[in-house]
Amino acid sequence: MTTHALATAPDFTPTVGHAEDGDTAALVRLWQEAGLTRPWNDPQADIALARRGPHSTILVARHEDAVIGSVMVGHDGHRGWIYYLAVDGTHRGRGLGRALSRAAEDWLKARAVPKLMLMVRPENTAVRAFYEREGFIEEPRVIFSKRLD
Ligand SMILES: CC(C)(COP(=O)(O)OP(=O)(O)OC[C@H]1O[C@@H](n2cnc3c(N)ncnc32)[C@H](O)[C@@H]1OP(=O)(O)O)[C@@H](O)C(=O)NCCC(=O)NCCS
Repeated sequence: MTTHALATAPDFTPTVGHAEDGDTAALVRLWQEAGLTRPWNDPQADIALARRGPHSTILVARHEDAVIGSVMVGHDGHRGWIYYLAVDGTHRGRGLGRALSRAAEDWLKARAVPKLMLMVRPENTAVRAFYEREGFIEEPRVIFSKRLD
């Protein structure tokens, strides 16, 4: 993926590119501050797994060498999924969430994945309007899961 600059304001020109080895601590902090971590998920293991294989990655937004946004994206051969979409609290409302979401879409389109999915925790009411604005629709589905670890 080409790292590209986002034209937002003359003094604010973040870039979006792939996460690097040294980004793990900053990503974990970003996700914790955004309220996206849970005690039963190890974010460091999630980062390592997403970056390990060819079917997933983590995209980060950077400004002056600081990680200020992220999205994990991957596909299972049928659907694309995004996780951990987060923007640093001081940089929200400047188009970064949209840019990261679109970068994940581009990553999936480049792999001919036809549909993008994501899950929102029921208590995260604030983010629903963001996704609706970005063209996502709420699907009437029930999700089952089973832990394998
Ligand atoms: C969701 C999140 C990533 C959005 O990032 P952001 O950089 O503030 O979003 P943007 O500035 O790109 O916003 C894009 C559009 O959505 C709108 N929007 C953003 N957040 C919104 C909200 N909470 N409610 C309504 N609209 C919202 C913006 O107004 C903008 O619309 P417009 O430019 O057409 O007027 C950010 O709020 C965040 O990190 N939240 C906490 C983590 C989280 O809940 N992640 C999702 C897990 S499922």
